[in-house]
Amino acid sequence: MNVLVTGGAGFIGSNFVRMLLEESGDRVINLDLLTYAGNLINLAEYEDDPRYRFVRGDIRDRDLVRKVLADEKIEAVVHFAAESHVDRSVEGPEIFILTNVLGTEILLEECRAAGVNRFVMVSTDEVYGSLGDEGHFVENTPLAPNSPYAASKASADLLCRSFFKTFDFPVVITRCSNNYGPYQFPEKLIPLMIAGALEDRPLPVYGDGRNVRDWLYVGDHCRAVDLVLRRGVPGEVYNIGGCNEMRNLDLVEMLVDKLGKSRDLITFVKDRPGHDLRYAIDATKIIEELGWKPQVDFQAGLDLTVEWYLEHRTWWEEIRSGEYTSYYEKMYGADGRHTANGKS
Ligand code: NAD
Ligand code: DAU
Repeated sequence: MNVLVTGGAGFIGSNFVRMLLEESGDRVINLDLLTYAGNLINLAEYEDDPRYRFVRGDIRDRDLVRKVLADEKIEAVVHFAAESHVDRSVEGPEIFILTNVLGTEILLEECRAAGVNRFVMVSTDEVYGSLGDEGHFVENTPLAPNSPYAASKASADLLCRSFFKTFDFPVVITRCSNNYGPYQFPEKLIPLMIAGALEDRPLPVYGDGRNVRDWLYVGDHCRAVDLVLRRGVPGEVYNIGGCNEMRNLDLVEMLVDKLGKSRDLITFVKDRPGHDLRYAIDATKIIEELGWKPQVDFQAGLDLTVEWYLEHRTWWEEIRSGEYTSYYEKMYGADGRHTANGKS
């Protein structure tokens, strides 16, 4: 099968492309703009693989999208490309609307016109908003996004639904919880804390650190998306999650302990505006209907992740010394002690 992966140079996308090239016979075209979050080094070992082609480009570039779909005779699309960081969406929502909403709409139109017969929309559990202390998100939980990022993903998710309902275009939607693992950009909680601890910098925990996230190893997410690509029912939504809830503070303490660093590095900073309290996914549908099951338990996954960041120091040091540095300083102050939203 000829598969177009959008955003394949990012964290989850690059893990997904690697999995397809290693474990399937598919030909993979990776369309990625290489924003600050896209890094071709993530897939450097496949540059000369005849089953792989990288195209640098914007999902909003209609002509380019049309040409790639035709030239490569694309049969299926897995759509990861997005602006993905909640804090950046608080600082500047516009690019989230342009990429996540308009980009998805252009992609849908062109894919429909080209007769693509499977379109997997990689949405997120953040479209559901926040849970209190009890309960889980199920696929028909009403959408109630709270950040500009989540609102842009919910819009894209609903556009996909509309293309199925209106045009019978074969879209399948996944909504996954927080991923972690190799190649995650060090602005997200787990790699930020690992890199910060290794550099003995203050580790900024938002608010009181009691917010809960449901963590899933990236390889397990990729396997779920692959199942949905091959066996998901058009028009359906599949929740994906690890049944692995953890309070941020407990997680950061665990990481600091694994790295043999002092918990004194942990610094409480001003809370993220509109910070969702708790996410927890009920993944019964994909487990029962498609036979998916997470394979990597949390402690093993964290160990693998810590090991990867220890062995790939250059990867994240180069990121942290580049454009990311100015973002980091804006968000936390040069010494890492400022508030979470850039204000002292
Ligand atoms: P990421 O930020 O690491 O990667 C995003 C990729 O998209 C980058 O390579 C970037 O260059 C590319 N991109 C951005 N704008 C583009 C454009 N206009 N055209 C083409 N490419 C563009 O993101 P991630 O964490 O790997 O997330 C991937 C997808 O999965 C996103 O859609 C995100 O909403 C969703 N998701 C993420 C998580 C998570 O925990 N990270 C969980 C659930 C869903
Ligand atoms: O739930 C899925 C979502 O998970 C994806 O859709 C998003 O693309 C992905 O970025 C992630 O969103 P979160 O906002 O949950 O992830 P983040 O790593 O930014 O934050 C995780 C938790 O840690 C959250 O409660 C905020 C907190 N946090 C984060 C950072 C960066 C801190 O306490 N300190 C920090 O410095």
